[in-house]
Amino acid sequence: MAIEAQAEPALRYRYDSSDPGVGANPVPYYKSLLAAPPIMVERRAIQWAVVSRYRDCVEVLRDHKRFSSVNPNLPGTEDFDAFGGVPVMTFVDPPIHTRLRRVAAPSLAVRRIFDMEPQLRAICGRILDRWSGRSEVDAVSELAVELPVRVFGCLLDVPERDYDLVRSIGAPGKTLFTEEFLQSRHRYITGLVKRRRAASGGQDLISLAIAAHEAGEKINELELFGMVMVLVTGGISTTADSISGALYQMLSRPELLDTIRGNPALAPELVEENLRFDGPVQTLFRVTTEEVEVGGTRIPARTPVYVVTGAANRDPAVFQDPDKFDITRNPNDHLGLGEGVHFCIGAAPARLQGKVAIQMVLERFPRIRIAPRWSPQYNVQAFGRGLASLPLRLD
Ligand code: HEM
Repeated sequence: MAIEAQAEPALRYRYDSSDPGVGANPVPYYKSLLAAPPIMVERRAIQWAVVSRYRDCVEVLRDHKRFSSVNPNLPGTEDFDAFGGVPVMTFVDPPIHTRLRRVAAPSLAVRRIFDMEPQLRAICGRILDRWSGRSEVDAVSELAVELPVRVFGCLLDVPERDYDLVRSIGAPGKTLFTEEFLQSRHRYITGLVKRRRAASGGQDLISLAIAAHEAGEKINELELFGMVMVLVTGGISTTADSISGALYQMLSRPELLDTIRGNPALAPELVEENLRFDGPVQTLFRVTTEEVEVGGTRIPARTPVYVVTGAANRDPAVFQDPDKFDITRNPNDHLGLGEGVHFCIGAAPARLQGKVAIQMVLERFPRIRIAPRWSPQYNVQAFGRGLASLPLRLD
């Protein structure tokens, strides 16, 4: 019951996932939330439910019928509505969700991604070549963002001159897209689709989606555009935050650094524990379709729900010594990649990129360490957070 002793009850009523103050240091809020059943709070003139205990979050995330991912344009929830009405799998429920997800799934299948490891190591190697001979680098902009941008460039099979555009779609810090931004991306992606249709048989993400479409999973042009947008936005900033976060956790713990150096095969466990301990996604969004009860709290129909997975990942009922960063946890059933039908479709590429980045940085730069006098600052968004920079000394 140590958690109740530490928790400050009033804090839980101040929880707001979009608040930069909360995002800068969410753990005290999580402790306060975890000490009690779900609560109702007023945010931006409407009532929200806040669900945080592990079992409550799992119950919500597994029940897409009563906890919908469709936002019925509730005023005050705009922070969670990035795509301006473009249909994307994140914000629809089955059966539409099932159809959209099936079209995207083949290009991200675990086996296919595993087979990409040599290619991914080559991409990461070229990024790290630019670090040679330098004494200091920023691991966020010069590795963590660059790697997923280039991996997407590769998955989409677009020329290097278009990587800036890929970067602009997925750049960290971007949650809401303007009409103009969406239109220019629409023109670009529609052009790609046209070219891929003309040259059948490609193995890139769009060609595979077109093939799945033609094999029976019908999706229209707007949905195909939404698919590319949601994969790129869902896949770049999160992966970047995961890589920089794992590097930071490792480099700020000398013993852990020695362990991973001595046994680089443990890099995946490091990446996984970072997803639990302080992952890129901290809060998910759902809306109740009917009146429900969660953990004894009544939530009315059409209520937006913060599903605070960042708190659930520190629930002492599930994770022993939850505030300890421990790569030997087994099992480590964190919710950092979600749960239920919307479980992260990009989990395989995200995990692989994390592993490759950690291993290759240590291989190439054995003396690497965090630059002196730096302290972490975070970019905070409604659904999560990531390091704004991570200056590293190489010499
Ligand atoms: C470590 C990096 C990543 C993290 C922490 C992460 C986290 C998540 C989480 C928590 C969800 C569940 C959303 C929900 O239930 O509402 C999700 C879904 C999703 N992720 Fe990821 N993600 C990562 C990487 C990626 C990558 C690399 C891609 C693309 C290749 C991607 C694409 C998506 C998509 C499209 C969804 C929606 C899936 C659906 O609705 O069925 N993510 N992600």
